[in-house]
Amino acid sequence: TGKVAGGAVQGDVPHTVAMLSLDNVFSAEQFTAWTASLARRIGHEVERFSVEAKLDGLAVAARYPQGRLTRLITRGDGIAGEDVSHAIGTLVGLPEKLDRPVTVEVRGEVLMTTSQFEHANEVRTAHGGQPFANPRGASAGTLRAKDRAYTVPMTFFGYGLLPLPDTGAELTEQLDTLAHSELMALAAQLGVHTAADTAVPTVTAVSVEEVLERVREIAALRAELPFGIDGIVIKADLAADQRAAGSGSRAPRWAIAYKLPAVEKITRLVGVEWNVGRTGIIAPRGV
Ligand code: IVH
Repeated sequence: TGKVAGGAVQGDVPHTVAMLSLDNVFSAEQFTAWTASLARRIGHEVERFSVEAKLDGLAVAARYPQGRLTRLITRGDGIAGEDVSHAIGTLVGLPEKLDRPVTVEVRGEVLMTTSQFEHANEVRTAHGGQPFANPRGASAGTLRAKDRAYTVPMTFFGYGLLPLPDTGAELTEQLDTLAHSELMALAAQLGVHTAADTAVPTVTAVSVEEVLERVREIAALRAELPFGIDGIVIKADLAADQRAAGSGSRAPRWAIAYKLPAVEKITRLVGVEWNVGRTGIIAPRGV
């Protein structure tokens, strides 16, 4: 409803390269079948995988012409996103200046760590607002909010580094040919926060069994992490394998999200609210 003739919502910023989503698998068997179909598509086994946490936040693209952060854009529909540049300066791990004056786009996830979420709710309730129900909703609301009387910090984790139209030929060539693991190392060298300094750094693996071992390790660490993850992202690490696999309109064929089950917790039901929806349906809401 926000679109006219399939175009972007007015005011949205077009992405230079589409921000794709990920297809999902839910078991070791499904993951193994995915690797087999990928191998058939590219004509050989994937040379190397990178395995990393699937951060439970919101995807953003950060544009750095000559190393200066000028624009922050949400994923939106993948083709164009909302300009949330007002949040520049509030995201831990997304520096306003890179360590080198390179023209690049950094993509990654914005989220609230557990302590940032608790702090955000303290500040919000102190200002008379309702507490956010979960860190993901808190990040989404905070990222979009303009002209609030207060700011609360969030954290950025980079998981992509790509050239912009004004990036020089040499760097463009470099960014287009580096492996994902090498791009992540470069992003960290430029001063961008990545998962490298967490308990779940990106690792590479050369066999399906090695990937599955890392999936089990990350799943076991999940409960102790100071931020939310909802799965593990496995990517063909080498640019050549990624290029051979290509992308569909929704998701790349060279990456997959191995989803973890939603976290279940015990809580107390203190009431039920009965809301009449727009179409007359009564929707109960547990409090
Ligand atoms: S890669 C072209 N890596 O998951 C590849 N995405 O369900 C696209 N996400 O929209 C993304 N952690 O917001 C990638 N390590 C990670 C990620 C990650 C979280 C999010 C991202 C994406 C969504 C798809």
